[in-house]
Amino acid sequence: MPQLTIEGLGSFDIPHGKRLINAIIDDAGGNQHYSCGGNAKCTTCRVQFIQGEPDRITEAEKTLLSASGLDKESGVRLSCQILCEHDMTIRLIFPKPPLKSPPHPSDDIQPPPVWINK
Ligand code: FES
Repeated sequence: MPQLTIEGLGSFDIPHGKRLINAIIDDAGGNQHYSCGGNAKCTTCRVQFIQGEPDRITEAEKTLLSASGLDKESGVRLSCQILCEHDMTIRLIFPKPPLKSPPHPSDDIQPPPVWINK
């Protein structure tokens, strides 16, 4: 099982392949924003990697990070577009619950991922 370490929250064993956004919410009890429901449309689920940033990225994530200028910030990635497949250490950027909660993100990455190298 990959281990997810979240600065200020602790370390958690995560089922292999689980979406990072859902690991933060369900397994670590983090209050993470996900305003678009985990569909690569908002960037509020973004986190900063301290260790273990994945090399691959979905096309949807790359496009949104680039369009919003976030691709220039070191280690910043969209937690709804990442699978827990190895140990990771992250920092939450928006550790507050949204005012209006959208539906819990689905188990699978949406839109269906097209993987490319970062
Ligand atoms: S929840 Fe909106 S981009 Fe990830």
